[in-house]
Amino acid sequence: MADIVIDGDVKAQQGIRFNIFQLNQTYLGKDARLNIGPKGFTGEKYGGSTYWDTEAYCIPFYMATKNQQVARSLLKYRYNHLEKAIENAEKLGFTNGAALYPMVTMNGEECHNEWEITFEEIHRNGAMTFAIYNYLRYTGDYSYIPEMGLEVMIAIARFWHQRATFSTDKEKYVILGVTGPNEYENNINNNWYTNYLAKWCIEYCVENIEKVKSDYKADYDRIMEKANLDQKEIDQMMVVAEKMFFPYSEKHQVYLQQDGFLDKELITVENLDKSQRPINQKWSWDRILRSPYIKQADTLQGFYMFEDHFTKEELERHFDFYEPFTVHESSLSPCVHSIQAAALDRMDQAYTFYLRTSRLDLDDYNKEVEEGLHITSMAGTWMSIVEGFGGLRVKNDRLSFTPRIPKEWKGYTFNVNFRQSILKVNVSQEGTTFSLEGDKDLLIYVDGKEFTISPNRLMSV
Ligand code: BGC
Repeated sequence: MADIVIDGDVKAQQGIRFNIFQLNQTYLGKDARLNIGPKGFTGEKYGGSTYWDTEAYCIPFYMATKNQQVARSLLKYRYNHLEKAIENAEKLGFTNGAALYPMVTMNGEECHNEWEITFEEIHRNGAMTFAIYNYLRYTGDYSYIPEMGLEVMIAIARFWHQRATFSTDKEKYVILGVTGPNEYENNINNNWYTNYLAKWCIEYCVENIEKVKSDYKADYDRIMEKANLDQKEIDQMMVVAEKMFFPYSEKHQVYLQQDGFLDKELITVENLDKSQRPINQKWSWDRILRSPYIKQADTLQGFYMFEDHFTKEELERHFDFYEPFTVHESSLSPCVHSIQAAALDRMDQAYTFYLRTSRLDLDDYNKEVEEGLHITSMAGTWMSIVEGFGGLRVKNDRLSFTPRIPKEWKGYTFNVNFRQSILKVNVSQEGTTFSLEGDKDLLIYVDGKEFTISPNRLMSV
């Protein structure tokens, strides 16, 4: 079910199969006390703990290649940690049921030991809400939200409400003293990704409060009482969302990664002496933090998660602005860039990023495989084929594809389990075929056009 077959490129085939094998070895979804560590069980780095990697990178693989209960178990893991996340926020001075999920955890408690990560890399909180949205978008299983998800979303929205500060100078809400996904910046103000996610988490939470109120009244009453939430607090939260500040450069027509990004000495990675790389092994932290170099997708992470909120031109402008400063020194970076390069029809670049992610451990590119395999980035490798080359998205409750193929390959095939139907997709240089297991037709979009796929009949597009 999870296999991807690549025709005409043995190294790429070996790479993706090695990745899929490791993902299947790491997590089965049978026990909601368990999760996926960035190194799985293959090495001691990261201590076997759970990171935002699960919500931001792993959920799609498990949703599409397993029964939906598997992804649901990953969500439930965070629901079971909600009380601890509220306690964690209380330790930092938050009140009234606001939750801050830990950056790193085993049992719900924060297990990381650096303040610039634990107190400041708070974007991970937003990934928890995003995963609930992503799960619903893919599976259509709304039941998770009244049962568990809404409580998590409320506690997270409360956190953002309390964490934002009203700037009388800007007449906007700002979020100060954070670390974005790009850990080569610490203690910055108005990280665009964090601000965007905060606003969205509040809005998405309120949208779901309304839905649960109208469609699941008993759950609504139970949740509102338990959370002790009233309309006044909801209205105040919405003011924060509506008045969120986003740093923007008129000159470059891009959102700025954070306040003051343009003050840096903007020398692209291409113009950086190769002997200086990887900068995390060659430079002091002081030098890294002052540099313009971006460890992994940061602003672009937001463009990946909220692709539909932006036009292709906006994506292109932001990709062209930020990628040249990105050193991809986190294994989580190339997959997002591969998916975006494919969406921008830059297949050579997409393929280069794909190779970097798929054989990272087999070829030990970073000379660090003794620390363990990059399990969570392996889920990103799967995404770069299925979402990147295959162009899989979910639009209006349907699967949508924009198939592309690297010129180096003759063809590739993958399967996805979508709402009790198993769809096999084969993309070749000649075209795309779909075949369906199950007993009901499936409506899909291919390159924006609607097609009906019937069970056990090959459909060529
Ligand atoms: C990345 C984080 C990630 C962690 C575990 C770090 O290098 O910057 O985003 O959560 O590794 O994979």
